[in-house]
Amino acid sequence: MSVVKINVLTVPAEQREELEKRFGARAGVVESSEGFEWFELLRPVEGTDNYLVYTRWRSEEDFQAWMSGSMQAAHRGGGQRPASTDSSLWSFEVAQQAAPKAV
Ligand code: HEM
Repeated sequence: MSVVKINVLTVPAEQREELEKRFGARAGVVESSEGFEWFELLRPVEGTDNYLVYTRWRSEEDFQAWMSGSMQAAHRGGGQRPASTDSSLWSFEVAQQAAPKAV
């Protein structure tokens, strides 16, 4: 089964717009990476100032290959100061999943 890697970004309220703008202009190379399955930028609604960068991969090896390859170029950020004040990486294995029934 797939693996889920979530980068948890702490983003002060006044930096939210800037963060979303940066993701809006993201490199778009992850889509072409071997084993890439999904990406979502999750905006917090209440109770936290953490944005979640949700990614799903076919295997740990595919994620590691992206990390040591095109991830680097996708994170240059034009030498600007980061919009987030902190980050940490959460790792999960997909234990169970479901999708809507085809109609
Ligand atoms: C120090 C830690 C990190 C920070 C502060 C950070 C922040 C950002 C920002 C601001 C962008 C938008 C593009 C840019 O301005 O560079 C971006 C792109 C992205 N980040 Fe991170 N990131 C970090 C590490 C990670 C990690 C560990 C993952 C793995 C889940 C990840 C997943 C992604 C993805 C998938 C994109 C889009 C790349 C593309 O379009 O090809 N990031 N990140």
